[in-house]
Amino acid sequence: KASPRMRKVMASLIQHIHDFARENEITVDEWMAGVELMNEAGRMSTDRRNEGQLVCDVLGLESLVDEITFKLASDAADAPTATAILGPFWRKDAPVRKMGETIVFGIDNGDRTYMHGRVLDYRTGEPIEGAELDVWHTAPNGLYEQQDPDQPDMNLRGRFTTGKDGKYNFYCLRPTSYPIPYDGPAGKLLQLLDRHPMRPAHIHFIVTAPGYKPIVTQIFDRNDKHITDDAVFAVKDSLIVEFLPYKGDPNADFELPYDFRLASY
Ligand code: DHB
Ligand code: FE
Repeated sequence: KASPRMRKVMASLIQHIHDFARENEITVDEWMAGVELMNEAGRMSTDRRNEGQLVCDVLGLESLVDEITFKLASDAADAPTATAILGPFWRKDAPVRKMGETIVFGIDNGDRTYMHGRVLDYRTGEPIEGAELDVWHTAPNGLYEQQDPDQPDMNLRGRFTTGKDGKYNFYCLRPTSYPIPYDGPAGKLLQLLDRHPMRPAHIHFIVTAPGYKPIVTQIFDRNDKHITDDAVFAVKDSLIVEFLPYKGDPNADFELPYDFRLASY
């Protein structure tokens, strides 16, 4: 039985799709090209390649629904950490690692980075114990581990849990900008619109804690040349960070301090 929400949303979707077709006098050939694009995205998709999501992302849809879903997160200083899109490369069950460990394996050409900070209650400023940080980013070749047979399984991913002080720290790399996969329908769409496939360098996080609203987010490197033209529109001002030169640690050339702020239920 159709729910009230389903009835309402589908009536609206159909109305907008019909209006779109009427306004643009869409022809049978044009509509079939759209159908073929959807079918191609379906054929390409595997558990390592989420082409349907990529197509939505280049159309700005995931970033839009992120904004709608997390209206509460704003760029104000006393707000919870802003959210950003999940993207197609998160994997569940990333390795649980001990605080202070590295997520980098088998890569020696990256900018080694020490990332650290705290997970805080945004209202009280108190540290949150037992918060889990699930982190993932690309290798210097621009590929996530599941796209790249040369990387060990689950490379550049990890889950860390804060202690009483709410602190976290680990070693990662300073990522580079790279193209979203553009050998499929998402790439074809970009090309048809004279758009590039580049995303600014970013690190992904899901931060969860008992009693707090989970956040899905990304942080972006201020000095990346694509910081103002992300192919999937995910950058928010409050998520832009600065990698600082780091002296005296044989394991890192850069330091990245960053606090996450969560809202309790
Ligand atoms: C997309 C998101 C990412 O984080 C990424 O690394 C590549 C693509 C996307 O939204 O399509
Ligand atoms: Fe990404």
